[in-house]
Amino acid sequence: MAKTAFPNVQLIDHPLVQHKLSIIRDKNTSTQEFRTIIREIALLMGYEILRDLPLEDTTIETPLETMTAKTLAGKKLCIVPILRAGTGFLDGLLQLMPAARVGHIGLYRDPETLSPVEYYLKMPEDLDSRSVIVVDPMLATGYSAIAAVDRVKNLDATDIKFMCLIAAPEGLKAFHEAHPDVPVYTAAVDRELNDHGYILPGIGDAGDRIFGTK
Ligand code: URA
Repeated sequence: MAKTAFPNVQLIDHPLVQHKLSIIRDKNTSTQEFRTIIREIALLMGYEILRDLPLEDTTIETPLETMTAKTLAGKKLCIVPILRAGTGFLDGLLQLMPAARVGHIGLYRDPETLSPVEYYLKMPEDLDSRSVIVVDPMLATGYSAIAAVDRVKNLDATDIKFMCLIAAPEGLKAFHEAHPDVPVYTAAVDRELNDHGYILPGIGDAGDRIFGTK
C-alpha cells in the first residue's frame, strides 16, 4: 500500500493487483474472465484494506502446549456496494469476511441536474456499531460515492472506508472536499474524465463489463 498525491487516498500497489487490473483494462478480456479477476482483485484489495482490524489475545492449546494467540476482536463489518457495479466486488470481499453484513444503495444520475438520485436502500440497522466499506469500482465524478457516504453517515455510520478499483483526479478531489474523514483505497489513479464522465484510460463501463450488457 502506498500514499498518493491526494490526501487520505491509499494506492493498493501490490503487483498481483496491478497485474490483474491490466488484464481487465484490456477490451478483449471476456465477461467471464473480467468477473473472475474482479473477484480476485476485491479479495486482494480487501486483504490490504483490512490490515487495521483489531486483534485480541486468546488462549489456545496447540498439540504441544498452551499459548496466547491472536484472533480477530470481533469487529462488525458492513460492505455497501453502490448498485450496480459495486456488486462486482461482493464475492471477493465476502470470501474474506464471510460474516460481514451487506447494505445496498442504488443511485442513478438525474439527466437534467446530473445529481445522484437514490432509488434503492437497504441497510443493516446497526451501522453505528459497524465498520462500513462503501464499494464502487469507478470513482469518476465522485458524486455517487459522495451521496452513498452521505447516506451511511445519515444512518449514523462513523467508521467508513471507500474502496474502488480506479479513481479519477476530479472525483478524488470532490470526494475529499465532501468527506475528508473517509479514506479512499484504489488500485489506480487514472488521468482524467472524458466529457461523458468516463475515466481515461479506465476500463469502460464497469457494470457493462461485469454483467456483459454491452
Ligand atoms: N463508471 C464506469 O463504469 N466507468 C467509468 O469510466 C466511469 C464511471
